[in-house]
Amino acid sequence: MDAKKIAIVTGANSGVGLEVAKGLAQSAYRVVMACRSVEKAIAAQDTIIGELPSSELEVMRIDLSDLESVRTFAQEFKSKFDHLDLLVNNAGVLFSKPKKNEAGIEMQFATNHLGHFVLTSLLIELMPDSKSSRVVSLSSLAHKKSEIYFDDINCENQRKWDAPYGQSKLACLVFADELQRRFDRLGKQILSVSAHPGGTDSGLFEHMSPILVSILRYTFVPLFLHSTENAAKPILKAALDNEVEGGEYYGPTGLFEMKGSPGIAKRSDYSRREEIARRLWEISEELTESTFRLEAE
Ligand SMILES: NC(=O)c1ccc[n+]([C@@H]2O[C@H](COP(=O)([O-])OP(=O)(O)OC[C@H]3O[C@@H](n4cnc5c(N)ncnc54)[C@H](OP(=O)(O)O)[C@@H]3O)[C@@H](O)[C@H]2O)c1
Repeated sequence: MDAKKIAIVTGANSGVGLEVAKGLAQSAYRVVMACRSVEKAIAAQDTIIGELPSSELEVMRIDLSDLESVRTFAQEFKSKFDHLDLLVNNAGVLFSKPKKNEAGIEMQFATNHLGHFVLTSLLIELMPDSKSSRVVSLSSLAHKKSEIYFDDINCENQRKWDAPYGQSKLACLVFADELQRRFDRLGKQILSVSAHPGGTDSGLFEHMSPILVSILRYTFVPLFLHSTENAAKPILKAALDNEVEGGEYYGPTGLFEMKGSPGIAKRSDYSRREEIARRLWEISEELTESTFRLEAE
């Protein structure tokens, strides 16, 4: 068995994911950069190696909006590695206009939640049952104003433009909690933790109106957001800190939770509801035509 700890970071080619990959490489993890654009991922890999020449990084392709690609990635990963210590489900998209994947599922729910749901289900068997094995799911402040629209999962009847993004990020948080409850029920040591980066000016805004983004960059961004490096800190804390407990949710603790040092993040009452988590698990299995059962379940 490879003695070096192995981490996967999805969406590691830019923004928060790149900083998380760098932080993990610095903490002596061998990091698999699971990215949609291999070209961008190789450039990101070069950037990290430029700063940390001893880093061990590997680029592997995945498109989280396409379950065939997720399954191929998992198969290839299993053919190369015999264990996985850390899975950081970081990749995410934010769209201002409705968009669906090939299977007809709203793109943000498909990418941000369902792709990671299936990826986790396929890789969990490789994770040693120990407290340092972790699944870290990325949520957002946007989860607070949202709910899971079980009867309108594609958000076709929602009036707010950002309802699908909010729903997808709430799903990431609720999924992380439910995964931890299932670990607990089986007496497993492995942890499921969630985190959000606060606010940072990353590639996430590139699908928004350029005029709105320019306005934000001169006003909102300098006042309220923090650097991508700082935005990665709550995620790195969730991934690495020995004090972290399963089911915890980390984020910046400063101004409006947009920036500041990492600590326990606030969350909506809705996100704590266990019946919502169970329904989300069921609908995720239905929509992905897969089952996610932990060993001995
Ligand atoms: N920025 C913020 O203020 C903020 C706030 C709250 C939460 N978040 C969360 O933080 C996480 C990282 O976002 P970010 O801010 O770093 O944005 P980003 O710079 O746009 O990074 C997103 C990453 O996800 C990847 N990705 C998108 N669609 C994908 C797909 N179908 N398959 C595989 N990878 C895909 C992107 O790859 P490509 O380069 O190929 O597109 C990119 O590497 C996301 O989960 C986001 O929801 C961000």
